[in-house]
Amino acid sequence: SPHQNFLHCLSLRSNDSSSFSKLIFTPTNSSYESVLDSTIWNLRFRSADVPKPLVIVTPTQISHIQATIHCSRKHGLQTRTRSGGHDYEGLSFVARVPFVVIDLVKFRSVDVDVENRVAWVQSGATLGELYYRIAEKSKTLAFPAAVFHTIGVGGHISGGGFGSLFRKYGLAGDNVIDVQFIDVNGRTLNRKSMGKDLFWAIRGGGGGSFGIVLAWKLSLVHVPATVTACTVSRTLEQNATELVHRWQYIAHDLPDEVYPTIALRGFNSTVIAFFSSMFLGTIGEFLPLMEHRFPELGLTRKDCAEMSWIQSILLSNGIQNQPLEILLNSSSRVPIVTPSYKVKSDYVKKPISETGLNGLFSRLTDEAAASTTVILIAYGGIMDRIAKNATPFPHRAGNLYKIFYDVGWQETDSIHSERYLDWARMAYNYMTPLVSKSPRQAYINFRDLDIGSNNIGYTSYAQARIWGRKYFKDNFKKLVRVKTRIDPTNFFRHEQSIPPLY
Ligand code: FDA
Repeated sequence: SPHQNFLHCLSLRSNDSSSFSKLIFTPTNSSYESVLDSTIWNLRFRSADVPKPLVIVTPTQISHIQATIHCSRKHGLQTRTRSGGHDYEGLSFVARVPFVVIDLVKFRSVDVDVENRVAWVQSGATLGELYYRIAEKSKTLAFPAAVFHTIGVGGHISGGGFGSLFRKYGLAGDNVIDVQFIDVNGRTLNRKSMGKDLFWAIRGGGGGSFGIVLAWKLSLVHVPATVTACTVSRTLEQNATELVHRWQYIAHDLPDEVYPTIALRGFNSTVIAFFSSMFLGTIGEFLPLMEHRFPELGLTRKDCAEMSWIQSILLSNGIQNQPLEILLNSSSRVPIVTPSYKVKSDYVKKPISETGLNGLFSRLTDEAAASTTVILIAYGGIMDRIAKNATPFPHRAGNLYKIFYDVGWQETDSIHSERYLDWARMAYNYMTPLVSKSPRQAYINFRDLDIGSNNIGYTSYAQARIWGRKYFKDNFKKLVRVKTRIDPTNFFRHEQSIPPLY
């Protein structure tokens, strides 16, 4: 069988076959399930009807990865690369064809150089490990990426990666200065040897299309020793609709140092809007700013707390009164994440009317939305000043805010999913006239196969363009050109990978 031949090939390619064999797992191996499940966060991908890999390889050396790529190609098996396993459609560990997972769980070193304000981090590390190692050495250095500490560095930076510092410093991908990369022929490349177009593509073009990024050299950014986190909540009865409506005109223009969001949740027959801000500075500096720019919100000192930036990461994860070391525990479940979920994203260019907002709010009181949160994330700041083609991530100037529909449910099996997935699609359809158009934009890291998918096997440019333009707008064409050059036989592929031009 192909996978026996594949395993035989691996044993022939390895110069340390006995130690390499301990890093290879097949379904007959007693640890297979625990290795596979170790980073499957979204429990809808754990059920028995979800296709499983024939083999999981957990390499510790570059030669193991080169051998796995070589043998997969030789025996016609697809590979999926997994770093943190957070892909919202499970594409790093689920495929509908025979496949092998290269799990980078053992490539997770983090090396921080405070003096030069840089860090080398391997793709299998989590963001929590990266943040912890930076904070261990400096209270005033940070890296602009997502706040959820269990996310893997590899997939996150590959898709751009935003977090609470993105209005000040841009995306994670905007702050990469070098990489270590393995291509389809097993060559190890860096920024210089790969050429500028491939270096452009892998910092936002989405994971799993071009090759495997083993490590990233990051430029660290300055944060003040004290930051301020504030949250104030309002129900519909407390004028939430008017306040959300007003926020749309204000948030985008706030200084770069503010990260303003709104989380909307249905609760009984009302909706609660949680207005949050993270500010790079003290309460004393932030309150007068908000009193001047958004007095209607009525933000007061008791809604805010001062802390270090690393503490703000714990707070955003819903973790309180725990030592920072919890950031090193990549298997600790973030309390605010539901067991099963599906996400969608939108971009808003013109403020939505109160009537339009009320239509969304009424859907949030539906029973199927009980564990759902819709989050509005203000754009502006430096995002307006970075060119749309600086990286593949095109959503820069012209966007007021992004919408993140985080549709969650408590059941852990796939049988119940349909009801919630239907709600997600219904809410998304409702929003069509209110959000960006031609194309309706979406964020690659909030992966959503509803917006289009490649064929199994051959994928035409025209078919991929349907989803590709939504994620990348005009940058999609350049991504296809880079793919055609670096991986012309389309070895690295999945349902939303960039296709080559044949
Ligand atoms: P995973 O390992 O699943 O990989 C994702 C994709 O990248 C797959 O296609 C995979 O094959 C590929 N890939 C992985 N490692 C690679 C490598 N080394 N080289 C090449 N390709 C590779 N995003 C965001 O920007 N801001 C946010 O605030 C959040 N918040 C958030 C919360 C939660 C709970 C989840 C589940 C997800 C997010 N995300 C997010 C989305 C997250 O950034 C996205 O899912 C990343 O791709 C996850 O990276 P992982 O390495 O964990 O995923």
